[in-house]
Amino acid sequence: MKWLVLLGLVAFSECIVKIPLRKVKTMRKSLSGKNILNNFLKEHAYRLSQISSRGSNLNFHPLRNIKDRLYVGNITIGTPPQEFQVIFDTGSSDLWVTSVFCTSPTCSTHVMFRHFDSSTFRPTKKTFSINYGSGRMKGVVVHDTVRIGDLVSTDQPFGLSVVELGFDGIPFDGVMGLNYPKLSFSGAIPIFDNLRNQGAISEPVFAFYLSKDEQEGSVVMFGGADHRYYKGELNWIPLIQAGDWSVHMDSISMKRKVIACSGGCKAVVDTGTSLIEGPRRLVNNIQKLIRAMPRGSEYYVSCSAVNTLPPIIFTIKGINYPVPAQAYILKDSRGHCYTTFKEDRLSPSTETWILGDVFLRRYFSVFDRGNDKIGLARAV
Ligand SMILES: *[C@@H]1O[C@H](CO)[C@@H](O)[C@H](O)[C@H]1NC(C)=O
Repeated sequence: MKWLVLLGLVAFSECIVKIPLRKVKTMRKSLSGKNILNNFLKEHAYRLSQISSRGSNLNFHPLRNIKDRLYVGNITIGTPPQEFQVIFDTGSSDLWVTSVFCTSPTCSTHVMFRHFDSSTFRPTKKTFSINYGSGRMKGVVVHDTVRIGDLVSTDQPFGLSVVELGFDGIPFDGVMGLNYPKLSFSGAIPIFDNLRNQGAISEPVFAFYLSKDEQEGSVVMFGGADHRYYKGELNWIPLIQAGDWSVHMDSISMKRKVIACSGGCKAVVDTGTSLIEGPRRLVNNIQKLIRAMPRGSEYYVSCSAVNTLPPIIFTIKGINYPVPAQAYILKDSRGHCYTTFKEDRLSPSTETWILGDVFLRRYFSVFDRGNDKIGLARAV
């Protein structure tokens, strides 16, 4: 999810991340001599690829597509476990859920964590706040056991909301941030880092398959990328800098004409943002090019235009990622067709585009913390 930040006002606490040796690295160390290693890898290549393709080291966790607006999954917190529906968000780094301390009107529509019912709960006095694009929250840092399916993080620090503003009508109870630790507002070590340090995840990698299907099929996987969810090869893109899921984009074009990001720009790969967001001027220009008309906060086209509008092509590291009109135009609950290009209200000084769920439904995405890179491939 896109958060609005005044960086200067935020005191990032330095998180020390211990990086455990991965299995392959350990193997590399113990097999001294290149040839032995090469022979070993050759002999076992088949087996290793079988393991990763079968996904025996992968942890799959189902997500639900809510009206193409957000993807949520269940986690549990506490002993005995209490269940919450959270957004798995590569755009932020904090885990928080609604608490019984929260008196904001929206909180009563969410599941609230009942800390007094958990025997493993541990409070702290630390408070924090986050401004997302879609709302704001204030909370307190606490510790408890957090479970994502079979993955268990004991004594995991996370936030309990005390105030929630905005987020109206959004059916979620909290957010699970999957971005790098240094972007955490609570200063708590993120759950992915904790699981990784505890050796619960075989490879420091997770991946998203966001289905178009309303109810089923979407999944986040921890520990690798299952190739049954994508076609062809993964294209790997290095991060602009280790510490944020952002990559360099070459251009955005339509009918062979560059329409935005000329000369390159920054692209944020964000599972917690529903649409494709960019600077106001360029977004307005795209709306004009596809003849979309504003109505309220959205831009609409006639639904028949979906069959004639050209794809919009995002070029990253020399590879074209077309998004066809069927993907960038969606139907709302009244059957009207709206465009999924939206002004990024934060508008940073360098041209930045947020590739949200509209893009990620089309392209399976892999987030590799071990090598600080993102993989993209055509989703099945
Ligand atoms: C989350 O849990 C609820 C109730 O336990 C269940 O109905 C729902 O299908 C679950 N969601 C996912 C994505 O598994």
